[in-house]
Amino acid sequence: MTKISDILLDRRTIREYSSDPVDDVLLNELLIMGCRASTTGNMQVYSIIITRDEQMKKDLAPLHFNQTMITEAPVVLTFCADFNRFNKWCLQRNAEPGYDNFLSFMTAAIDALLVAQTVCIAAESVGLGICYLGTTTYNAHKIIDLLKLPKGVVPVTTVTLGWPSGKPEQVDRLPLEAVIHKETYRDYSSASIEGYYKPKEQREDSQQFVLENNKETLAQVFTDVRYKNEDNVYFSKILLQVLKDQGFMEQ
Ligand SMILES: Cc1cc2nc3c(=O)[nH]c(=O)nc-3n(C[C@H](O)[C@H](O)[C@H](O)COP(=O)(O)O)c2cc1C
Repeated sequence: MTKISDILLDRRTIREYSSDPVDDVLLNELLIMGCRASTTGNMQVYSIIITRDEQMKKDLAPLHFNQTMITEAPVVLTFCADFNRFNKWCLQRNAEPGYDNFLSFMTAAIDALLVAQTVCIAAESVGLGICYLGTTTYNAHKIIDLLKLPKGVVPVTTVTLGWPSGKPEQVDRLPLEAVIHKETYRDYSSASIEGYYKPKEQREDSQQFVLENNKETLAQVFTDVRYKNEDNVYFSKILLQVLKDQGFMEQ
């Protein structure tokens, strides 16, 4: 059995999958392990939608900007913040739910993300490959329609799951000291920013990325191409409307 430390240190996102199926028994085991994750007050305010149907995957794909993993992976999991089930239980037991607010959305979103990451580690521990899709929060309104999510339920992330068709290179990380603060936050000097980001900028793949995108710096690839202000603002407005529509901004 592979050690957990080796699994964690050797992991990488997998975006290409073999045609081998992921059977229901294995998927069920992974989901059972995932649901052992910590959960706020043991409320389990999340739901997981399993998509295996080819037509459903085809319908989901454009909502994830046609990222190929959706149709190529045998399993797509949409993790949702979900107070619907808990609210219903409260109402059936003469208890008044007070979960129509932003804090409750955050609570449920955190719960959903913890389950998602635990399922991912469980999957990676048996050799499966996973890819998170951040596009879920961009098109949450359309995903809500397609997956028939009722009020109280908001999709927060999606994970594609399958057997890897290859072993891509691991990508870099900042050194640990760049992200660790001892006792209190120590803000960054421009010299420390230089030191932490220089190795990333000097990587051949980063330089290629800058060239391909016709930019001067790697940071510009993020600000001007990948995660642009106008897109962030546009999709923020949609997401805020989704939170209102799903009943999380009532007070
Ligand atoms: C919340 C979240 C959203 C992500 N969204 C996408 C995505 O939409 N498409 C994609 O190809 N990878 C996506 N990823 C994967 C990241 O790009 C990947 O984790 C990162 O580049 C580091 O690579 P590694 O996981 O191989 O170490 C996402 C990861 C996270 C945590």
